[in-house]
Formats: sequence, structure tokens, C-alpha cells
Amino acid sequence: NKIVLAYSGGLDTSVILKWLAQEYGCPVIAYCADIGQEEDWQAVRAKGMATGAEKVIVADLKDEFVSDYIFPAFRANAIYEGSYLLGTSLARPIIAKEQVRIAAVEGADAVSHGATGKGNDQVRFELGYIGLAPKLKIIAPWRTWNLNSRKKLVEFAEQHGIPVPVTKEKPYSSDENLLHISYEGGILEDPWAEPDPAMFKMTVAPEAAPDQPTYLEIEFAGGDPVALDGDRLSPLALFSRLNKLGGANGIGRLDLVENRFVGMKSRGVYETPGGTILRTAHRDLETITLDREVMKIRDSLIPRYAELVYNGFWFSPERELLQTTMDATQQTVNGTVRLKLYKGNCIPVGRKSEQSLYQESFATFEEDSVYDQADATGFIRLNGLRLRIQALQQKKR
Ligand code: ARG
Ligand code: SIN
Repeated sequence: NKIVLAYSGGLDTSVILKWLAQEYGCPVIAYCADIGQEEDWQAVRAKGMATGAEKVIVADLKDEFVSDYIFPAFRANAIYEGSYLLGTSLARPIIAKEQVRIAAVEGADAVSHGATGKGNDQVRFELGYIGLAPKLKIIAPWRTWNLNSRKKLVEFAEQHGIPVPVTKEKPYSSDENLLHISYEGGILEDPWAEPDPAMFKMTVAPEAAPDQPTYLEIEFAGGDPVALDGDRLSPLALFSRLNKLGGANGIGRLDLVENRFVGMKSRGVYETPGGTILRTAHRDLETITLDREVMKIRDSLIPRYAELVYNGFWFSPERELLQTTMDATQQTVNGTVRLKLYKGNCIPVGRKSEQSLYQESFATFEEDSVYDQADATGFIRLNGLRLRIQALQQKKR
């Protein structure tokens, strides 16, 4: 009887909006999630109404996105396949969560999205819907309709008076939020072709960054950043400032081929300026505040955690289990890291913490009171026992 569509105002979701209203003959609510992408929301509202939405709802999710999605993932040092900071993967669950909330408030019985049938995003949206509101009907037009080419989509738009952007279509697809901008598809599908430098929006090229380094101090409490250069800031304000600083210094560009959950490889280009700084600083502070064995176990769980998030299992018992574990390691991650930002590099140059496990007096080459060098003789002898037995055995043969 009523559908809530995750709507961006772009051509694809505008066509979907019209198509849903026609196909199902029911009111469609166009729901836009503001997660920090650059957008003229007035224009998106007007376009949604002109395209036949019963109502356009723009939800400001920026604070929640930083506090409840980005920060938890960075407490876990989440990184997929060794390099991707999960900018889109983290955005889908919050979009889905607000969408099912709106569906309940508006009395809708169905939700819809504009992700294709070949990607990760469909999985992330729909696992979110299922995990949070199992009774809602899910409509994924890209998997069912016959508008399966650019040409057909544009034809449908023209037939139904949906404005098709006059500016030349960007030759790739992009997805933007506070954490990153991703670029894929189109001319980027050739993994040998270097992206056009003009494509990037959040960062300057490293070679165009200032010749003077920028120094920055980040203070952490419980694994979350709380202050920059001594200014206490809200998560959103702090993260936005990191994005500016990283962007101005050319930090956080990435070009890779990744494995999608559905099975194919995909070339992606990303810019994640603030996230790259945050992860570097956080890991550095952990070098003095985490116990060695705790860090080892935690590190072994990072790929698992990241894979869950990438594959769309944000709202799952296993992600929550890992989050609890990750968060438990963060109680001692308090202190300050000093970084040098310079032409695409983010270099830690100092770290301090009241809970530091690093003691100059223990590491020193001078005489100290806690460490008796004679103890090392037995330590090495016992650690060498297996090696000694094996070597003796080999000699015998
Ligand atoms: N490949 C990245 C991921 O799976 C980015 C996806 C971008 N999505 C988009 N609709 N353009 O997280
Ligand atoms: C899409 O297919 O809709 C975007 C790419 C992805 O979800 O991986």
C-alpha cells in the first residue's frame, strides 16, 4: 500500500520512483539520507515531488553516521583486503535503518533501493531491512525490470518528463559521504587506466599539496578521537576537520581491485582523507597503550570484522560480538598522537599516554631495577630447547 524508496535525486532513482508508482499504483515516499554528501537538498526535494513522490523526506544522519558507524569501525581498525576503509559499506546500514524507521512511522509495507543486481550495495541494504524489519516487502527494481540499459533508462525518463541531466554524464559512477568518495565503473573498469586527476573532489593531488608540512595533534579517549590540537570537538566536527586537513595535504587516495561479495572482482578508486589520518593515528596510539598479546588477538580479528561489514552484516550477532570484543580492548587507548601531514603522507612523529606501557626506564640500555640481564640466559636456553634437540638429531643422521 505504500513504498519508501531510498532516493538520491539522480537519474536512476528518479526513474525508479516513477516506475514504482506506475507498477504498484501506490504512494511512494522518496527518502534521502544526508550522510555528508555535497547536495542541493532543495533541488532534490523539488525533483522528487515533480517526479511523483507523495512526500520527500530528507533525514540528517551526519552525527549518527560519525558516532555510531565510522567511530566504531575505526575503534576496530577495520580495513577490507588490506586497504579499503569501507566508506560505502558503513553507509548502507545507517541508510537502511532510517528507511525502515520511516516505513514504520508512515505505515508503509515496502522498501526499495536503486542498487544493481551485480553489486555489494543490494546485499547491504537488504540484509539491513531483513535484520531490522523482517516483515517489510523489498523491491529491487534493477533485478526485475526491463530497463536494463542506459539507453532504455533515458528513454523512460524522457517519456515521463524526468529531467535527464544536460551536462555530459560522468564517465564513472561515484558514491559520496562523510567518510569517502568512491569511484567505479565506466572508464575505470580498465584496471590499467589511471584515473583522471580532475575526478577527485575531497583531496588535492599529493604533488599539488603544500611544500610545508602540517603538524596535527589528535587526542583519543577510549579509542575515539576527542580533540584536535587541544580543541574538544563533537565527533562530526572533528571528523570534518580531519577531512579538510587530509584533503589539503593529498592524503587518502587509493586505487585497487577488490573482491565483491557476489563473486566478481571490481576496480575501485577511493579518497578517504580523514579516515586515513584517523586510522594511522589510532594504530600509533595503540602501540603504547595495548598489551602485546591483546593486540595480536585483536589484529587477527580485523579481517573478520571488515569482511562482515563489507558483506553487509552490520546488524548481525557476529558483528556485535566482534564489536564488543574490539571495544573492550579500547579502554586503555587514551592519549595523544602527533602527526606530520605532508604531500600524501601521514606520518606519526610522537605519541604519549598516561596509560603508556612503554617505559623508558625498562627499555633503556642503562642499568635498571626491573630487568636482570642474567635472566635472559635461561629464557633463551629454554626457548632454544626444541631447536637444540632437532639440531642434535639431524647431526646424528
Ligand atoms: N566497491 C565499494 C564497496 O563495495 C564502493 C561501492 C560504491 N557504490 C556505489 N553505488 N557507487 O563498498
Ligand atoms: C551497484 O551495483 O549498485 C553499485 C556497486 C556495488 O554495490 O558494489
